[in-house]
Formats: sequence, C-alpha cells, structure tokens
Amino acid sequence: MGIFRTKSVETSLEDTEAPEHRLRRSLSALDLTVFGVGVIVGTGIFVLTGEVAKETSGPAVALSFVVAGVVCALAALCYAEFASAVPVAGSAYTFSYAAIGEFPAWIVGWDLMLEMALGAAVVAVGWSGYFAELLATMGVHLPDTLVGEHAVFNVPAVVVVAVLTAVLVAGIKLSARVNLVVVTIKVAVILLVIVAGLFFVAKANYTPFIPPAQPTPKVGGLQAPLIQVLFGVTPVAFGVFGIFVGAAIVFFAFIGFDVVATAAEETRNPQRDLPIGIIASLTLCTVLYVAVSLVVVGMQPYDRLSTEAPLATAFRSVGQDWLATIISIGALAGLTTVVMILMLGQSRVFFAMSRDNLLPRSLAAVHPRFGTPYRITLIIGAVTALLAGLIPLSALAELVNIGTLFAFVLVSASVMILRRTRPELPRSFRTPLVPLVPILSMLACFYLMLNLPVETWVRFLVWMVLGVVVYFGYGARHSRVAEQERAGTR
Ligand code: ALA
Repeated sequence: MGIFRTKSVETSLEDTEAPEHRLRRSLSALDLTVFGVGVIVGTGIFVLTGEVAKETSGPAVALSFVVAGVVCALAALCYAEFASAVPVAGSAYTFSYAAIGEFPAWIVGWDLMLEMALGAAVVAVGWSGYFAELLATMGVHLPDTLVGEHAVFNVPAVVVVAVLTAVLVAGIKLSARVNLVVVTIKVAVILLVIVAGLFFVAKANYTPFIPPAQPTPKVGGLQAPLIQVLFGVTPVAFGVFGIFVGAAIVFFAFIGFDVVATAAEETRNPQRDLPIGIIASLTLCTVLYVAVSLVVVGMQPYDRLSTEAPLATAFRSVGQDWLATIISIGALAGLTTVVMILMLGQSRVFFAMSRDNLLPRSLAAVHPRFGTPYRITLIIGAVTALLAGLIPLSALAELVNIGTLFAFVLVSASVMILRRTRPELPRSFRTPLVPLVPILSMLACFYLMLNLPVETWVRFLVWMVLGVVVYFGYGARHSRVAEQERAGTR
C-alpha cells in the first residue's frame, strides 16, 4: 500500500550527498558525547527532582531515576544500531521510513515535534525561572506578567530562544564549541552539588525511603495515571506505584540522548561515533542523576523540597547561600544548551522531512555560507519562542514525555523489522539479544506511557490526529518517494 512505501537506506544515504542539501561533517565521538550531556542534563534534574520527590515518589525519587534510566538504556541500545546503520539526519523519522514505511515515519516525525520543539519551549520557560531567581538575588524583581509560570508573555524565555536561533543559523561548529564550555560548567555544578551536599545529608531524611501510598490532589481527576484508572485502583501517589509514576515524569531528564542521532550527517565517522556518543552520554547522566537525587533528598525532608529550584534551595536550607547562587548560575548555563540542542535536533528532523517532500522542499535549502538549514531553523525558532512566550508549560513536560516514549516504541520495533527486511546491511553496532532487547524496550516504554496522566493521553491523541490530517492533506500527495515510484525511477 502506498502509505507504507519505504525509502531505502541507500536512497537516504545518497540524499546526504546532494550538494545543495549537504551538511558539513565536522563532529567527533567526543563532540557527540558533549552534545548528549549538553541536551540531557537540564530541567529534569534541576527542576523536576524536587517536584517528583515532593509529590510522587518521596526520597525514592532516586529509584524513579533508576527505572527511567533502565528504560532509556534499552531504547538507547536500539537507537545505537539504527544510528550506525542509517547515519542520516532525521533520527527516528529516517529510521522508520527505512523500516516500516512512509506514514509511520511521518507519524514519528510529527511526534518528534512534541519532544523537541515543545521540549525546547518547556526548558526555555524553566530557564526564565532561574533567570528571574538570579536577578532577584541581585535585588532586581521582574513583574509576574513577564516571567514565571503565570506570565502573560514570558520575555526572558523568548529572548533566549531568539539568541540561540541566531547561533544555530551561524553554524554547528560554533554551537559545538559554545556547548563544550557550558557543559563543563554544568557538570562541575552537578559534581559540586554531590560533593558539597554530602556534608549536609541527615540520615533521618531517608526514612521513610518509600512513603506509604496515598491519594493526593496531584493524582486526582484527569491527573490520574492512566494505568491506575484502567485497573480501577483509586489513584495514589507514593508507595511502589509512586516510583513508577515518578519515573514517567523524571523520564524528561533523560530526553536528548536520542537527539545525538539527529547529528548523524554532521559526524565524521558516524558508524563508530554515534553509538559511542549515545551510550556514553546516557550512562554518565544516569550516574549523576542518581547521585544528585540521593544527596538532595538527604539534605531536606522531601515534603519541604522546592518545586522550582530544588538544588539551590536545598543549599539555602542549610545556610549555604553562596553555593546556592553558584548552582543557579550553573543551572542557567545548563538549561541554555538544552534549549539550543533540542532546537538543533528539531531542525534536522524537519530538514529530513522536507527533503523527502513531506513538508515543502524549499524549506530544506542550506545556507550558502554557513552550511546550515537556515530557513527551517528560523521557523522553528519563531514557533518555539511563541510557545515559550505564551504557554505555562509545567504540565506539558508530560506531553513531551509521552511523545518521546512513543517514538522509542517505534524505533525499537523498527530495529526488529530492519533486521528481517535488510539483514545484510552493515551495522557497526548491533543491538544485543534481538528480539529480546527491542521487545523489552517497547514494553518498558509503553509501561511508562501508561503511568502518565489521562489528560496527557488526550492531548497526545489530539496532536497525532492532527498529524494524520496534515499527512493526507499534503505529504501523501507530494512525497518524493511516491513521485519516483510513479516515474519508475525506483
Ligand atoms: N533532558 C532534558 C532536560 O532535562 C530535556 O531538560
């Protein structure tokens, strides 16, 4: 059937060689790992740790991080095989086009907008919160209409997105260098939290480690996790359930390792370097997260943690204001790179989609001097800025998660499919224990999706239906693969 036409891996690879659409190959494995850490460590650890400990998991938030980390590791093993076999911009979108077909690929591409453009907007709003916090310590107070969750128009969030868009248009090597400096600061701050925090840990704060399950407003009504509604349980937070509900939220903290795969075309030796970049950055972050969350819940009773700047506030609570300020600055720097790389990833997915004519092809033009897809970058910058400016985004982090988890499910399925349809394809990295690992990855991702609130599922389904409409209204008729099929050139 037409909508399940696939684009062969060879055609995808050929596309990357067309001069008017060629991206510059300049990244190494280390650049990719830095890239990965740059986008992974962000709002998740700096903000959500406090919220999840306070409202969903208690001190067992550390276990939520472990659960989310294991789910991501399974997905990463699948991503790494794909990235090594199909090293083309576009990540999960390109993978599914090769393995399952055009319509599922479109769905993945559409879905990735939730992860990247919406994710960038979520983090930009978090950025503006830390920015306001820092200004406040210097005695400058911005009005509530201009900053924070209830802003009418979140000016700092819009400005940070605009500046980063300009950086991205100017070229990826510049971004990678800026990124290296910022990532160093960010990791240093995280290590500082772990080491300095250890001195202020009180054992009593770890009891109870898993607080008893209880119904709370946080899991009331449409906020109830779908799985608890499906099984007719009265929705509860905390307890063992709470660890998994928490995992579905702190999953946000791991988002980004897959974005490494979107830089495939700009990597010098993608088949070796992409798997290294993906797995190294994910491992590093998991270790840091578990350590940070253990320290922070040890410093303050979990029900007193801040939901806005928990890492900084934990230090203020033990009288270390100067450390808190340093942490805020580090968080600000850290969140900057997250926004930047999420936008970069989004631009590369759009790039791949318009090169295939599923979106207007003229958008994929590369800037003659900078070698970047500048039109797409500018459009994404504008949309992200608008979202960040207008929408209070705390609950939307969950929408980002569901979209990303769904993409992971499809990528894991694609690994199994491509093994059958193209067994001979060279793969420098092979997912171990196929089909066990991809199947476990699909089940694990789906299970986390089920732990997200009912309202998140509703929003997700609405967005996907919209995607189907756009595909049949535009992409299905303009598709380049379909055109080539008709002309008999394939
Ligand atoms: N993982 C990224 C963050 O936590 C998206 O901000």
